[in-house]
Amino acid sequence: MKHGGQKNNNLSIVVVVFSIFLFSCFIYNEDFKSIAEFPFSRPKIQLDSDENRVISSSSMVMNSRTVVETDIEHSIEMPDEDVDDDESIELPPDDCDLFIGNWVYDNVTHPIYKEDQCEFLTSQVTCLRNGRQDSMYQNWIWQPRDCSLPKFKPRLLLEKLRNKRLMFVGDSLNRNQWESMVCLVQSVVPSARKSLSKTGSLSIFTIQDYNATVEFYWAPFLVESNSDDPNMHSILNRIIMPESIDKHGNNWKNVDYLIFNTYIWWMNTFSMKILRGSFDEGATEYDDIDRPTAYKRVLTTWSQWVDKNIDPNRTQVFFMSMSPLHIKSLDWENPDGIKCAKETAPILNTSMPLNVGTDKRLFVIAANVTRSINVPVYFLNITTLSEYRKDAHTSVHTIRQGKMLTPEQQADPATYADCIHWCLPGLPDTWNEFLYSRIISRS
Ligand SMILES: *[C@@H]1O[C@H](CO)[C@@H](O)[C@H](O)[C@H]1NC(C)=O
Ligand SMILES: *[C@@H]1O[C@H](CO)[C@@H](O)[C@H](O)[C@H]1NC(C)=O
Ligand SMILES: *[C@@H]1O[C@H](CO)[C@@H](O)[C@H](O)[C@H]1NC(C)=O
Ligand SMILES: *[C@@H]1O[C@H](CO)[C@@H](O)[C@H](O)[C@H]1NC(C)=O
Ligand SMILES: *[C@@H]1O[C@H](CO)[C@@H](O)[C@H](O)[C@H]1NC(C)=O
Ligand SMILES: *[C@@H]1O[C@H](CO)[C@@H](O)[C@H](O)[C@H]1NC(C)=O
Repeated sequence: MKHGGQKNNNLSIVVVVFSIFLFSCFIYNEDFKSIAEFPFSRPKIQLDSDENRVISSSSMVMNSRTVVETDIEHSIEMPDEDVDDDESIELPPDDCDLFIGNWVYDNVTHPIYKEDQCEFLTSQVTCLRNGRQDSMYQNWIWQPRDCSLPKFKPRLLLEKLRNKRLMFVGDSLNRNQWESMVCLVQSVVPSARKSLSKTGSLSIFTIQDYNATVEFYWAPFLVESNSDDPNMHSILNRIIMPESIDKHGNNWKNVDYLIFNTYIWWMNTFSMKILRGSFDEGATEYDDIDRPTAYKRVLTTWSQWVDKNIDPNRTQVFFMSMSPLHIKSLDWENPDGIKCAKETAPILNTSMPLNVGTDKRLFVIAANVTRSINVPVYFLNITTLSEYRKDAHTSVHTIRQGKMLTPEQQADPATYADCIHWCLPGLPDTWNEFLYSRIISRS
């Protein structure tokens, strides 16, 4: 179907009317004008496997970065300030699928950091400070069925990041995860030895003593779009250039750990607007194409960029699967719910079939593209386990277009609850535990 601004058939009118209805129904905040939901069936795909390893941090040597490797055992020597770190770290075997498991209540080990002890959290995610009454959402740990996630040790990760750059690239969910990562590592760094700076699309957290950075680069579609301004991107008519990635990609070179995502902005409309020509040349005409087709084109462009520009001997590449929404409480059979606003516990019965409207077609494409690329990409399959976390969203305890919700707005969750982003501490910390597990196992 070709459009040049002209819509002249009945289907278009129905779509436009339905879109206006959606626009008036769903949440507004700094990043999203609207979210439409579509139920799809869930694919079953398995990850492959390899071997079994153990990291021991029991023998510690001051200022040493020596790594001793044997066939089945990795010894990591660490600075001695890690007082409680004299037990060894048990790494999950490589053939353990970390993403199959269940949520377990554990208020002893989690949260890993406290909301008011991380000065870098933005008011978008500080749910307790913003008035949330319950705090159990901070206490759930992910228990893989066949192994366990290693204990999060900030200094161990910082050693891996010494003289290195770690960068999240993508949309506001990746920014959510970046904020979590900053908080996870910053606790062991004295306040004068860390800093946060923001320039255009790039935010950089620097840990001076390690010469390490934890960065976030705003590119919600990965490719070029008219929504690339990191501050002003509340655009109704989102248009992308699915084959244009270099302008962003130039900022991803020479990074040691790259973590990509792109999902939420695809969910605004049924189809995607693809620019004919280039923004630089003033093009405004576009074609409407089917969402999965456009997603596949974009991820193909991305995979070609990775294959051409990434040296796998230097850089580890990760892709985050879709972060789910919880905007219809009947999805988890709560007739008294209002979107995610009244939820205080995860879904614990993992044998109950659950469909919260994630576009599984995009999941399948991402899983497939990340598997068929030449450079190894670690696919973080966080979608299903996050679907259980209806309790973990910011809901009405957040900001909207840069301002804290007013008491009147907080009293109207049906309109204002944000069931897209997540409170911190919270679920994105778990995503980073997967990342941590992989990084300390692989370097
Ligand atoms: C992702 O994890 C879920 C369970 O959390 C599993 O059912 C699914 O098969 C996994 N998909 C892939 C591609 O690994
Ligand atoms: C942890 O949870 C248990 C059971 O709900 C409760 O008795 C205990 O006081 C909690 N501990 C903390 C530190 O919150
Ligand atoms: C500091 O880290 C950067 C990469 O982030 C690296 O290029 C540089 O060589 C490092 N500096 C030193 C003194 O090792
Ligand atoms: C990566 O390292 C291996 C072994 O040192 C080498 O054979 C290979 O050519 C390197 N690959 C690239 C892309 O530099
Ligand atoms: C979990 O869900 C399944 C499928 O809906 C159901 O058969 C089972 O009874 C539930 N288990 C519990 C403990 O509620
Ligand atoms: C998976 O990727 C391969 C290689 O890019 C492609 O040939 C195949 O059609 C894809 N399959 C699906 C289901 O997308």
